Amino acid sequence: MIKVAPSILSADYINLQQSIETVDQAGAEVLHIDVMDGMFVPAISYGPNWVSAIRPITNMELDCHLMIENPERYVETFAKAGADLIGVHVEATPHIHRALQLIKAAGIKAEVVLNPGTPVSMIEPVLYLVDQVLVMTVNPGFGGQKFLPEMVTKIAELDRLRAENDAYHYQIEIDGGINDQTVQPAYDAGADVAVAGSYVFNASKPAAKIAALKSATNH
Ligand code: DX5
Ligand code: ZN
Repeated sequence: MIKVAPSILSADYINLQQSIETVDQAGAEVLHIDVMDGMFVPAISYGPNWVSAIRPITNMELDCHLMIENPERYVETFAKAGADLIGVHVEATPHIHRALQLIKAAGIKAEVVLNPGTPVSMIEPVLYLVDQVLVMTVNPGFGGQKFLPEMVTKIAELDRLRAENDAYHYQIEIDGGINDQTVQPAYDAGADVAVAGSYVFNASKPAAKIAALKSATNH
């Protein structure tokens, strides 16, 4: 069964606490927080103040997906705000190794993120260092886009690499266009955690959508 990480990008910002409590009570293990700087991706979303505001109201793991240029500048700030995991894009910095080391030095989980156009070979030198790899299944920047099915082979490749190499201990996360249909091939290829934004929060009953993702992967 897959772990579910609702993305608050599609939540009701005015009633954020209620949205978060709903998915928490529905059994979501992780809360996904999409940070966008208007440079790495076109949109601007929210920053570390949101993480520190959310931290006291839930025990879910706070997964901060940094879609920002040179994310190493903000690792410490997000760690102090209460992140349990920080994800940094390999495309966003010439110093991916340093960025990941900084996250580990802050005592939290480190994740490397791959855009759809970036091959797994780009991150092989840092795979031994990470707790999670995020395979983007849409181009980052917006909620509500369509799942790219060709990303399933990338998930399978990462699953094969960790099976073959004792030094690797990462989980595989997927993000973008996830629903009860698209989650199935991704889970079968090796995904452990599914981010879901619009599928969960645009529904009248978010809890039912979390249950649907779990039952679609209950094998
Ligand atoms: C996209 C973000 C996603 C987004 C997913 O740039 O990284 O986390 O919230 O939204 P859906 O699930 O609607 O594709
Ligand atoms: Zn995300």
